Amino acid sequence: MILILGRRLEGKVALITGAASGIGECTAKLFAEHGAKVIIADIQDKLGQAVCDAIGSSNSIYVHCDVTKEEDVKNAIDTTIATYGKLDIMFNNAGIIDSYKPHIIDNEKSDFERVLSVNVIGVFLGMKHAARVMVPVKTGSIISTASVASNIGGISTHAYCSAKHAVVGLTKNLAVELGQFGIRVNCLSPHGIATPFYTNEFKLDAMAIESVEEIVENVIHLTGNLKGVKLKTHDIAYAALFLASDEAKYISGQNLFIDGGFSIVNPSMKNFMLRENL
Ligand SMILES: NC(=O)c1ccc[n+]([C@@H]2O[C@H](COP(=O)([O-])OP(=O)(O)OC[C@H]3O[C@@H](n4cnc5c(N)ncnc54)[C@H](O)[C@@H]3O)[C@@H](O)[C@H]2O)c1
Repeated sequence: MILILGRRLEGKVALITGAASGIGECTAKLFAEHGAKVIIADIQDKLGQAVCDAIGSSNSIYVHCDVTKEEDVKNAIDTTIATYGKLDIMFNNAGIIDSYKPHIIDNEKSDFERVLSVNVIGVFLGMKHAARVMVPVKTGSIISTASVASNIGGISTHAYCSAKHAVVGLTKNLAVELGQFGIRVNCLSPHGIATPFYTNEFKLDAMAIESVEEIVENVIHLTGNLKGVKLKTHDIAYAALFLASDEAKYISGQNLFIDGGFSIVNPSMKNFMLRENL
């Protein structure tokens, strides 16, 4: 049978956290282009409403939702059900990072807790309340944004690395629990993309986004395995679209890397061989 790829989410309802900006914004627009009704959930109300306006009010609504607060997450899910009658896709994408401090003794407990609160507790709450409405109807796709830092150490902060590893653990555990109800649970692991998230990591707040893009792209180009292509938010959005769609109907418990092969290579050996002329 030949699969015809048209509007791949026709009739589906998707809630996306962190959808006011970056990967979430791009994914919300792509999901809507593919026929989904989209709930934009974020704490940046003006930006979130602007994304909603760009998509069109007949296909999208904005809900203020701080993913660290259970009542906000519960309200976002309940608003989705009240507005569209169901939830097919839950995309736990909201995430933050703390400033990079290479020595653990300089890391503050409060920063560690802040990152885990958004990146782990936020994902847990999104999964919990999505499951609440998906289990009775025995269908659904839950996706969360992890990172290349979910698999390797030394490329991010301690808090961020721990948090993204935890997202993979949660994904696997929940995939086992919800498989009996036909609900799929997966996560995505992107390499670096110049979004507002990055300006925080490198403390580049005062720099133009073009300069940030240049720095990030240089880092990715130098460290990446796959050459000649640039990672863009659309690439992550298309991976989310695939996992959300029925094309991925037998995929669950997976961590899909969108990293051009970055995380499969250990560059130390390659550098050693080059240095020793081996
Ligand atoms: N940009 C990258 O290089 C990169 C790489 C790998 C993974 N990621 C992950 O991708 C996801 C999206 O990041 P992005 O790059 O699009 O960054 P971004 O800063 O553009 O978007 C993140 C969004 O999350 C929202 N958010 C933050 N705290 C929140 C909270 N408590 N409740 C609700 N929303 C909240 C922000 O308001 C923002 O709109 C994050 O989980 C991040 O860890 C990003």
